[in-house]
Amino acid sequence: MRSLFQRKQIADLIHDTEASGGLKRALGTGDLVMLSIGAVIGAGIFSTLGTAAAGEVLPTGEVVRHGAGPALVLSFLLLGGVCALAALCYAELASMIPQAGSAYAYSYATLGELIAWIIGWDLILEYAVGNIAVAIAWAGYFNSLISPWVHIPDWLTHGYYNVHASSDPAIRGLLDTAPRVLGIPVLVNLPAFLIVMAITWLLVIGVKESTRVNNIMVVVKLLVLAVFIGVGALHINPANYTPFAPNGFTGIHQAAAIVFFAYIGFDAISTAAEETKDPQRTMPRGILIGLAVCTIIYIIVGAVATGLIPYQQLKSSDPLAHAFEVAGLTQFSWLISLGAVVSMAAVLLVFQYGQPRIFYAMARDGLLPPWAAKLHPKYRTPHVTTLATGVLVALGALVADDAATYDLTNIGTLSAFMLVCLGVPVLRLKDPDRPRPFKVPFVWPVSLAGAGACLFVMQGLPLHAWGRFGIWLAIGLVLYFAYGYRNSVLRRGAPPVNLDAPPGTGA
Ligand code: ALA
Repeated sequence: MRSLFQRKQIADLIHDTEASGGLKRALGTGDLVMLSIGAVIGAGIFSTLGTAAAGEVLPTGEVVRHGAGPALVLSFLLLGGVCALAALCYAELASMIPQAGSAYAYSYATLGELIAWIIGWDLILEYAVGNIAVAIAWAGYFNSLISPWVHIPDWLTHGYYNVHASSDPAIRGLLDTAPRVLGIPVLVNLPAFLIVMAITWLLVIGVKESTRVNNIMVVVKLLVLAVFIGVGALHINPANYTPFAPNGFTGIHQAAAIVFFAYIGFDAISTAAEETKDPQRTMPRGILIGLAVCTIIYIIVGAVATGLIPYQQLKSSDPLAHAFEVAGLTQFSWLISLGAVVSMAAVLLVFQYGQPRIFYAMARDGLLPPWAAKLHPKYRTPHVTTLATGVLVALGALVADDAATYDLTNIGTLSAFMLVCLGVPVLRLKDPDRPRPFKVPFVWPVSLAGAGACLFVMQGLPLHAWGRFGIWLAIGLVLYFAYGYRNSVLRRGAPPVNLDAPPGTGA
C-alpha cells in the first residue's frame, strides 16, 4: 500500500531534467504572459460562451444546464478567482521544481505515484480530449468563414453525436437525410478532422511553437477581440441586460462549469519552466499576470456579447460572429471568424504539442511503455505518440458532441487542479526546508479554498459528465495496476529509462 504513494524526490526530478540535456533559458515574464494568452484564449471564449449564456436543453426537453444570461460576467469573475487560487499553488510548485513540470511532475513529488498517475491520466482529458472540442469549435468558425464562397454539405460538417444531442430540428433532420452506409447515417465533421491531421503532420516534421509565431498569433487574437469589444460596445441594447440573471445563482454556477474551458491553459505555461530565465520569480509573475489579463478580457467580451443580442440567441457554434450577424454588423463578422480560426489553430498546436510530451515524461518514469517516447530518427520528435495523439483526437473530432467534450475536459482539468492545490500544503509539511522562491501567501486557507473552489465548479457540471469521468478513472486504474505498477522505475529502484530527450521535453 505504501509503495503506491511512493514519492519522487525533487532532487531526482531536477536531475532527470538535467540528464536529458536541459533547455536554453531564454523566456522572460513578458514572453510567459504572451505564451499564456496564446494557450488560453480560444474555443472557450469563441464558442462555449454561447452555451454558457443560453443554457442547454436536450431534444427530449430535459434541461442539461441552465444559462447564466447576462450574468455570465459573474461566471467569468468567479472563475478568475478560482483559477487565481489554483494559479498561486501552481506558481509555488513551478518555482520550486523548475522542471518542465506541470501537474504530473509536481504530484509525483508531493502526493506519490498513484495520484501522479491519476493526474497524468486526467491531463489526457485536458490536452487530448480538450483538443477534440477546440477542433470542433475551429470547424464551426471555419465553415462560417468560407460560407460566402463554399458550402460544404451539412452531413460533412456535423459529427454524429453532435447531431444526436442537438435540439435544433434542422440539424436533427440530418439523421434522416444524411447518406447511409450499412444503414448508419454518415455524419462527420470533416474540417475538424482535417485541421487536427494537418497540425499533427506539422508537429511530426518538427515544427515548434516558436515565441515569435506565438506573439504574432496573440496580437491577432487581441486585435480581433478589440474589434469585437470596440464595435460591439457601440451597438449594445441595454434592454438585453434585463433580466440580468434569468436562472439565478444556479445559472451562474452551471455556466461557470462549462466556460471554465476558457481558462484552461494558464497551467500549461508551467511546462516552460525549464526554458525560463530566473523561473523562481518569473514563473509566478507570468502565470498570475496572464490569468489576470485573460479574466479582464473575458469579462468585457461577455458583457458586450450579452448586450449586443438577447442571450438566448447566442446559442450557436460561432456565438461571437453570430452575435455580430444578428446585430446587423455582417461586415465585421467575417473578421471575427478569421480571428477565431487563427486563435484556435494556435491553441490546437500548443496542446497537440504538449500531450506527447506528457506521455514522454510518464514513459521516462516507467508508467507507460518505452516505445511511447521513441524519437523520429530524422526529425527528433516523439513521432509515435504525436501520431497516436493526432489520430485519436482527429477521430474524436470527426464524430463527437462538443458540449459533452467540454464537460469531460473541464471535470478532468478541475480535478487535476484540485490535487495540485492539495499538494502544496502536503509538501510544506513533508519537505519544510526546501527553498521556496515563491510562497503561496496564507497557504492553508488559500490552498484549501483553491481545492474546494475547484470541487465547487465541478459540481456545476451535468451528472452524465460525472458518470463519464468515473468510467475514465476506472479505466486508468486498471491500466495502472496492469502496467505502471509493475514497471515503475521508482518502485523497481532501477535507473531512469534511458530515453533520448525529445526537443522541448516536458510534461
Ligand atoms: N482555454 C483554451 C480554449 O479556450 C483551451 O480554447
